[in-house]
Amino acid sequence: MRLALPASPCTPLEDEIEIDPAAEPAGGLSRRSFLKAAATASAAASLSGSGLAEKPGPTVPPKLSSVTLQINGSARPLQLDTRTSLLDALREHLDLTGSKKGCDHGQCGACTVLVDGRRVNACLTLAVAVEGSEITTIEGLAHGDDLHPMQSSFVEHDGFQCGYCTPGQICSAVAALDEAKKGELSVVSFSSGNLSSPTLTDDEIRERMSGNLCRCGAYPNIVAAVRAVAQQQGLAKTQGAGA
Ligand code: FES
Ligand code: FES
Repeated sequence: MRLALPASPCTPLEDEIEIDPAAEPAGGLSRRSFLKAAATASAAASLSGSGLAEKPGPTVPPKLSSVTLQINGSARPLQLDTRTSLLDALREHLDLTGSKKGCDHGQCGACTVLVDGRRVNACLTLAVAVEGSEITTIEGLAHGDDLHPMQSSFVEHDGFQCGYCTPGQICSAVAALDEAKKGELSVVSFSSGNLSSPTLTDDEIRERMSGNLCRCGAYPNIVAAVRAVAQQQGLAKTQGAGA
């Protein structure tokens, strides 16, 4: 018997393992049969131990709620299952698909939107919990045909490749600069001793943007785009003024 590389994580066990037929006994339990029987017994034991085999889980009927969300300056009335995330409300109910679903677990930042000016992961926020707050999505940053300065900077500095993470990166960067303007510190501010009014060095920008992942690895250009806007706003030193 020798092991072969599985074609995919879902490849059945018997396809992952090549068995020399000559090595299998003429009668009795073959290795293939043994492996199948062991896998079946193991699955049955786990289901039985967890109680899943006997008891199907209860179905909880959706509880609908009327909610009016303030999004990009407009009131948007909705009837939502109270368990609906803000991200699903935006994408599935309001057709605002600029905010992206990367992980749906608060790990990638692709869904970042602004709630009362603060950045949040919309996938971890219940829509009903933000009624009464002003929600800004990537669609609401531009004024007509005039892009937000952060959007223009991402274009100018080529701060994206596939663009999937970009709406979240831009919303996050807008809020990150506002946080710096208010004097909010990051862990880098402490390590650099820059505690009074943090200057946005590249290390500060990388730290403050660390909740937004880019699977294309466009990080150098993302930092350049954020740095350029920070310089325009007096939050970062301009080139030649020292790092
Ligand atoms: Fe929300 Fe990844 S989709 S953090
Ligand atoms: Fe592709 Fe960031 S540009 S994921």
